[in-house]
Amino acid sequence: MERALTTMSHGEGSAAARWDRRYSAAAQPPFGEAPNDYLRRVCARPDFAAQTALSLADGDGRNGCWLAEQGLAVTAVDVSAVATERALALDSRRGVAVERVTADLADWTPQAGRAWDLVAIIYLQGTSVLRRRALEVAAAALAPGGWLVVEGFSKAQAMRPDMGPDDPDRLYDLDELRAAAKGLEVVEAWTGRLRLDEGTRHQGEAEVIRFAARRPL
Ligand SMILES: C[S@@+](CC[C@H](N)C(=O)[O-])C[C@H]1O[C@@H](n2cnc3c(N)ncnc32)[C@H](O)[C@@H]1O
Repeated sequence: MERALTTMSHGEGSAAARWDRRYSAAAQPPFGEAPNDYLRRVCARPDFAAQTALSLADGDGRNGCWLAEQGLAVTAVDVSAVATERALALDSRRGVAVERVTADLADWTPQAGRAWDLVAIIYLQGTSVLRRRALEVAAAALAPGGWLVVEGFSKAQAMRPDMGPDDPDRLYDLDELRAAAKGLEVVEAWTGRLRLDEGTRHQGEAEVIRFAARRPL
C-alpha cells in the first residue's frame, strides 16, 4: 500500500517546518540512499526473520525502502511532508510499496492492535521527551520476538560540532535505551566512535550508540 497520510499541524517553528526546510534545501538525499549500516547488519543476523517493519523518523526513505526491497511489509513515519514525498518517489523508482505516514512522533500512535516484527529508529534527533515517547511507542508496537533497533549520536557527540545536534538533550545515552527496553531482551548496547559514510550530512568520525533488543516470544 503506497500512501502518505498527514496527521499533524505545521507551524513555522515546528519540527515539521524545520525538517521540511532542511530537506527542501538539500540537492541530494542528505543521508544518502543506502540503508543504515547497523540496520543492515541486524537484518543479516541468522536469528533475524522479521516480515514486517515500522521505521520511525524514516526521512526521505533510504531505510524503509531498503527494508521493503528485502521483502518486508513496511510502515514508515516521518514528520516532514517534503521528506515523505521524496521517500515515495524513491519507493516508486525502486519498485516497492511502503505505507508512509506524515506525522509527529510527539503524538502519533499506531492503530490499536497493530504490531511489527522490527521497529527501527535511526537518527531521530529529537529532545529527550520526544525520544522517550518514540521509544515507548516503539517498544509497545513490537510483536512477540520483534526487534527494536536504534542508532543515533551519543552524548559524547556534543563535543564534536561538525555533525549532528550540539544540544546534549538531543543526544542519546544507553541508560535511556535500557530503561525504554524494560521487558525486552537486550541483544546489543554499544557506544563508541565510528566512521560514518551516509550521504552528505553523516560523513566522518562520530560518537554513536547502537542498540538492539527483542520482545520475548
Ligand atoms: C537525521 S534525519 C534521519 C532520517 C532517517 N532516519 C535516515 O536515517 O535517513 C531525522 C529525521 O527525523 C525526523 N523527525 C524529527 N522530528 C520528528 C518528529 N517529531 N516526528 C517524526 N519525525 C521526526 C525528521 O523529519 C528527519 O527525517
